Amino acid sequence: MINRLKKLSPQFKKILKVSSTVANSYGFKIYLVGGVVRDLLLEGGIFDLDIVVEGDAIKFAKELSRKLGAEFQKHHVFGTATVCFDGYKIDFATARTEKYTHWGALPKVKPATLTQDLLRRDFTINAMAISLNKDDYGKLIDLFDGLGDLKKGLIRVLHPNSFLDDPTRILRAIRFEQRFCFKIEKETSVLMKDALAESIFRRISPHRLRDEIVLILKEPKPYRYIKRIKEIVGFSFVDKRIRLNKERLKFFLKVERTALRYQKKFKKHKTPQVWLIYLAGILIGLPRARIRKVFGDFAFKKGERAIVLSIKEGIKEIKKLSKRKKPHIIYRILEPYSYESILFFYAYYSNKTLRSNIEYFLDKLVKVQLEVKGRDLKKLGFRPLVLYNKILQKLLYVKLDNNLRGKREEIKQAKLIFKKLS
Ligand code: CTP
Repeated sequence: MINRLKKLSPQFKKILKVSSTVANSYGFKIYLVGGVVRDLLLEGGIFDLDIVVEGDAIKFAKELSRKLGAEFQKHHVFGTATVCFDGYKIDFATARTEKYTHWGALPKVKPATLTQDLLRRDFTINAMAISLNKDDYGKLIDLFDGLGDLKKGLIRVLHPNSFLDDPTRILRAIRFEQRFCFKIEKETSVLMKDALAESIFRRISPHRLRDEIVLILKEPKPYRYIKRIKEIVGFSFVDKRIRLNKERLKFFLKVERTALRYQKKFKKHKTPQVWLIYLAGILIGLPRARIRKVFGDFAFKKGERAIVLSIKEGIKEIKKLSKRKKPHIIYRILEPYSYESILFFYAYYSNKTLRSNIEYFLDKLVKVQLEVKGRDLKKLGFRPLVLYNKILQKLLYVKLDNNLRGKREEIKQAKLIFKKLS
């Protein structure tokens, strides 16, 4: 393992080395744990580090941040701390056990040893550690043959109660399975189905499920993940009426392609929250009131709800774009929508004219801006002021349709519009 650590970036190595020195001076034992160890073994990119401390994690992190000259943030309620250094985020936690009083409950937490801390974890591939201590620096600690499962490509729980203790692990298993193109191990798969047969998702707060759903939808290509959730879990835990037929599943593939194309072609536009487009695709068949209920139950943000509802509302209106339209009409139809909504429509419809109207909007129309401003209208002596917005809007439409060039042409048109309006 030490060789893997040697290949890391200089900043990363610095964090580990300084951590090791601080731990030694305090008499604490520290370990890299969880996803970062898995990703190091898979030789993937790493930006977040989790370090478990046998000792006081907050005290340790504070001293480390002082030594590194880095930002430090403590989270007293959880006894954890975060240090940010040169693009890396390092989370520190005191080694702990978790006891579940009943299925799906939040666990009771107590300080413990590294072994106990590893025992409470979800899957063998996430339950390995690397020592950062002086005597065995770089040693891999693998109590459950996580390395073996990593080589075989298996997602395996550590104990039979894992999914009952923490049902969000069902979604996590699907996430890791799909992310790494692994398989859920046979016995684990049986335990998962047993837990689902107990309607286990009903026992936990929907917020925890929401967080997992969002993580899945934020993966680079979530189509396979959504398909797998449909196969294993179904979406009735979100709403009983959700039906994802073949056609709808294909839609998710189209969103993947649309997002990729958009990112390449429209680098300068605002980055859309693509995960919301997938969520809208899951919910779109539901009546408006049910969509509202899902957003309430799962406590999504208001802005997120507004985007999905506007997609639901706009889906019929957008059909108007199936015919060739004047630029200002295309603009008027699409301008009120978020980029998420517009990309949804683009992926949803296969009509060529509709799609090319959307492309034209993104390519050209959104970039058009007036040179004439309100103060120019004021200089021209236009009254009353309440007309200004209307004049500017009409002027923009004229500019879109007629390719007006320069301020002089705009002023000429503004005068004509003002005459008509007053
Ligand atoms: N963990 C767990 N059970 C959970 C969530 C997390 O046992 N329900 C443990 C796992 O050991 C996991 C670690 O906490 O590796 C960190 O969790 P998290 O940051 O959510 O996952 P990562 O494994 O780091 O995965 P990702 O790459 O998606 O961040």
